[in-house]
Amino acid sequence: MVNETGVSKWILVAAARPNFMKIAPLMRAIANHNEKGNGPVRPLLVHTGQHYDANMSDAFFRDLNLPEPDVHLGIGSGTHGEQTGRVIIEFEKILLRETPDLVIVVGDVNSTMACALAAVKLHIPVAHVEAGLRSFDRTMPEEINRIVTDAVSDYLFTPSPDGDEHLLREGIPREKIHLVGDIMVDSLLASLEIAKERPTLDRLGLKGRPYALVTLHRPANVDDKRSFTRILRGLTGVAEKIPVIFPVHPRTRKQVGAFGLESHFIFHKEERPLPRFPKSVLQAYQPFGYLDFLNLMAHAAVVLTDSGGIQEETTVLGVPCVTLRDTTERPITLTEGTNVLVHDDPDRIVAEVDRVLSGRRRKSRCPAIWDGHTAERIVGILTAATATA
Ligand code: UD1
Repeated sequence: MVNETGVSKWILVAAARPNFMKIAPLMRAIANHNEKGNGPVRPLLVHTGQHYDANMSDAFFRDLNLPEPDVHLGIGSGTHGEQTGRVIIEFEKILLRETPDLVIVVGDVNSTMACALAAVKLHIPVAHVEAGLRSFDRTMPEEINRIVTDAVSDYLFTPSPDGDEHLLREGIPREKIHLVGDIMVDSLLASLEIAKERPTLDRLGLKGRPYALVTLHRPANVDDKRSFTRILRGLTGVAEKIPVIFPVHPRTRKQVGAFGLESHFIFHKEERPLPRFPKSVLQAYQPFGYLDFLNLMAHAAVVLTDSGGIQEETTVLGVPCVTLRDTTERPITLTEGTNVLVHDDPDRIVAEVDRVLSGRRRKSRCPAIWDGHTAERIVGILTAATATA
């Protein structure tokens, strides 16, 4: 994996909001590797543009100190076929021009799968960070992306032992699988102190008061009117007790309009404290950047979400998490962490929050190798492979 110049060229792919906090620690670990005078690695950051709004992308580059992408493909939104197809076409052009020695993809978004496919067809080795996760629900687009990406990757970096088991069961050779821990935790631990210093709680009028933090964007929840309405019934029940802070994903905002559900929300145009939070309505904001959201998560009484990554982040923070899904590809957050699944059941949503507010919290701990050093381990393995390839 070293070209004739002695420099190893690695393309790192960033595409959508949940990718950026996985790419930042890898960029740092590569820089550290180079500073130590080890065989140089030249990272090339490619942003596919799957997410493009300032608060879904630029804010994260700023908060995570990510450099400007070397290449921006400007793909944007579309159907699964359109988006995946456009990424393959445009990314293949970059691969042919740059002839990298390795492509690193993270997570499970459409761009992850598309870039892995484009690379493997050109016989370029692919590393998948966050490999082996399975919800066993093939109606989730991410599940298809995970299965396909893992099947074509050469280096599979898993966050937890269940990932290794799934890959072995699917016939992936043991030597391709590396249990390295959760890369999101690298970003979380590196950013937590500065995140907590931000005036986010003051700006929202939340200092010293319990609140619930919500994220919701899965198609199964927000594109289906019945599910969306049931979840909103649960959340407004929670809002009778404590303020419910709800940064709204663009997909979700569209669906609120399409289903005429606006009456459940107060839409805050900017972040400024309210004298009081009216009961039984949800406090809707634009999506927050990485640091403000981390601050809000760290101080929340409870987090309600259908995100994958947030189930892990709350486990690390020790904050109770109520997951608005009936499956999870992160079962370790249930067995060791703070997570519980309630799907879209309004009564269970309220009951779980009541349990937390009455102090009956479940015992939890942070999984052992979620220690903030995952990126170092990955770069160590990849550079050692470089030496022998
Ligand atoms: C994508 C990922 C999902 C991830 C989520 C995190 C896939 C299949 N899904 O879902 O795994 O959890 O990102 O946010 O890859 N939009 C904007 N601005 C943006 C981006 C999107 O307005 O910057 C709107 C568009 O109307 C778009 C819709 O949101 O059609 C959905 O975006 P898309 O990237 O297709 O999927 P997400 O729901 O964001």
